[in-house]
Amino acid sequence: MDRRNALKLMGASLAAVAMAGITPKTHAAILKDRAANKKRLVFYFTATGNSLFVARQFSDAPLSIPQELKNPGQVYEADEIGFVFPDYASAAPLIVRDFLEKNTFKAPYLFSIITFGNASAMVAEWWRDFAKEKGVNFDYINTILMVDNYLPVFDMNQQMAIDKHVDENLAKLLTEVGAQTSYIQVQAQQPGMPAMNADMLRGLQEQHFNMTADRLLELNKDKCVECMTCEKVCPHKNFSLGNDGLQFAGKCEYCLACVHACPQKALTLKSNWPGAPGERNPDARYRNPNVSLMDIIKSNRQ
Ligand SMILES: Cc1cc2nc3c(=O)[nH]c(=O)nc-3n(C[C@H](O)[C@H](O)[C@H](O)COP(=O)(O)O)c2cc1C
Repeated sequence: MDRRNALKLMGASLAAVAMAGITPKTHAAILKDRAANKKRLVFYFTATGNSLFVARQFSDAPLSIPQELKNPGQVYEADEIGFVFPDYASAAPLIVRDFLEKNTFKAPYLFSIITFGNASAMVAEWWRDFAKEKGVNFDYINTILMVDNYLPVFDMNQQMAIDKHVDENLAKLLTEVGAQTSYIQVQAQQPGMPAMNADMLRGLQEQHFNMTADRLLELNKDKCVECMTCEKVCPHKNFSLGNDGLQFAGKCEYCLACVHACPQKALTLKSNWPGAPGERNPDARYRNPNVSLMDIIKSNRQ
């Protein structure tokens, strides 16, 4: 069913119950009833909680991708399968791609919600094409604007002060997925942002997806109390405690979970080599207010 027809159908069914004199169910109750009759699996990846918050709106028990990846080669089968993850440079995080590639997904309806903070550009099209190459055909891919956790460009205090209309936007996505709408977002052009093309995006992605923890991160040893929160939130087990204190190395997702979660703000982004990202405000850190530190640890700990 396409988007327009889904919305029409929903309007017509609400009008019908109203005319029959039955108290119309709330919209949320209708969606809940529908979901209860269906088996829906939702997978998510999160660093600072936005994508977990969104995943929880679509499922009472969304499954963490870093945890599921501990047992690759699964065949996931359901009436509906959803993916929720952050936009990284108009592409999916590497760990999400890995998860898609290493497992099989069987469902009549497949959807994805991609959280982003400022400009989602062509991420939905990118994900559609990436998945298609791996034999997964999504029916619905949409994006939702949230706090931008990308520290090289954004000051978290400023980001958190912006009303991004999350509740209204989420309600629309829930309605569309609830009605099994078919829709793939194409080139979302943000006001004031340059139009992106595939080549520009590839350049950006190369910068991001070839990272190691020791190249990205700077540790302030005076601030670090060796609480190992960084180790607990890292989806790649990049942190350990050595004779010389906290050590980190290894392939890095660039998710920034460690930097945002450090209670001492002892981890920052390096700015001492050409191309090092640096930070807008090393004193400002973010976690979605609906998500706890323990939620992030349970999601990512290896
Ligand atoms: C490495 C990296 C790259 C990002 N690239 C983009 C981007 O290209 N466009 C955008 O709007 N947001 C971008 N973001 C922001 C995140 O997509 C956004 O804040 C997301 O909601 C974070 O989700 P999480 O809290 O579940 O980790 C990026 C964040 C990171 C860490």
